[in-house]
Amino acid sequence: MNILLLGGGGREHALAWKLAQSPSLRKLFAAPGNPGIAECAACVTLDASDHDAVIAFCRSEDIALVVIGPEAPLVDGLADSLRREDIAVFGPSRAAAQLEGSKAFTKALCDRAAIPTAAYLRCDREADALAALDDFDLPVVIKADGLAAGKGVIIAQTADEAQQAIANMFAGGFGAAGQEIVIEAFMQGEEASFFAITDGETVVPFGSAQDHKRVGDGDTGPNTGGMGAYSPAPVLTSELTRQVMERIIEPTVATMKAEGMPYSGVLYAGLMLTDQGPQLIEYNCRFGDPECQVLMLRYQGDLAALMLATAKRELADAAAPRFDDITALTVIMAANGYPNTPDKGGVISGLDRAADRGATVFHAGTARDGNHLVASGGRVLAVTATGGSVGEAQRLAYDGVDAIHFPTGFCRRDIGWREVAREAGLTA
Ligand code: AMP
Ligand code: GLY
Repeated sequence: MNILLLGGGGREHALAWKLAQSPSLRKLFAAPGNPGIAECAACVTLDASDHDAVIAFCRSEDIALVVIGPEAPLVDGLADSLRREDIAVFGPSRAAAQLEGSKAFTKALCDRAAIPTAAYLRCDREADALAALDDFDLPVVIKADGLAAGKGVIIAQTADEAQQAIANMFAGGFGAAGQEIVIEAFMQGEEASFFAITDGETVVPFGSAQDHKRVGDGDTGPNTGGMGAYSPAPVLTSELTRQVMERIIEPTVATMKAEGMPYSGVLYAGLMLTDQGPQLIEYNCRFGDPECQVLMLRYQGDLAALMLATAKRELADAAAPRFDDITALTVIMAANGYPNTPDKGGVISGLDRAADRGATVFHAGTARDGNHLVASGGRVLAVTATGGSVGEAQRLAYDGVDAIHFPTGFCRRDIGWREVAREAGLTA
């Protein structure tokens, strides 16, 4: 079959790399793609917000499946437009994508389905929000309701900080995303990402990972989209995975179906592993970036077939996803300045040397400039390797990083640190 993949980041390069290995694939198109994706797909120009143009492309290229990488086209209803035209699509409807598009929607769903999550209050008036602060202990979490590129969450240590965050959101600091806010109790614990694939009815686990959101070593500095990840996350033991499926994922899928908004695609749960068990921090309606990069290195099945079965509501008949029993670890190389304004245009070389050392290098924000590969975004490369332990995967990933020449970029040097320390403790 022919497949159209929408997106052009590191997540989409990993998806393209895996889709290209699928026996059921004939031709892979990507829009817009990037120079890495161009090695395994035909990159085309298509505006994902122009639904008619996407449909027309699918007709002219005989596309049997559209895979939507990022959240924005999902929240914008592209999957609905494609389904109306009988074009199979991997990704949820606009109604189901509210699980990522609106934090208040997700919190209300947790109430209805008794899903463990932090206590919260939803406010659409500044005065109400300020008055409600007294009901929460410190630290307290203030969130803009809508999509804010991962930046609409403030963990306030003092009442002053909380008041400022509320004032800033209602003053438009996060645009329309902050017209409504959610105040949440702070959850203590270790974070992990959990993935499940569902066609609206059948739901299967699709691996775990841990991300590193802060820009600096030791989890310091501002939040980013993610500076590195590894999979699996050993903190999510098989017992905790069972709890996550039973208490969080399955009730979510069942409730969405019962309420006429069946969720189809990948459901990405951000979890806090608390003393009381796993609690939901948030949902995303897409793969994580860079979590997708490490999942794809471990996934052993035919991704195109799995995604098509999901799109056609035939997941019950598909083979259960299988993962290699190894650790995959990825290090993001970012452009200087990220997560603020990144330096663009810096020349990158040495990707072949990294590959010779066994690393798989996914492109996130790169462009071609004549004969040169240059940085064109904040997160530029995801240098990925596998090993028998997190420590080994980490060493091999940094061997890859050290083979790359990118003088206007930087990376964290400690991806996987929590698990490496635990492994050292076990073997000492
Ligand atoms: P979110 O965009 O909802 O994933 O939030 C971004 C980050 O803020 C999460 O990855 C957590 O590190 C943190 N966070 C969000 N909500 C809470 C909470 N209720 N308690 C503790 N940390 C939180
Ligand atoms: N790595 C975090 C995310 O994709 O949202």
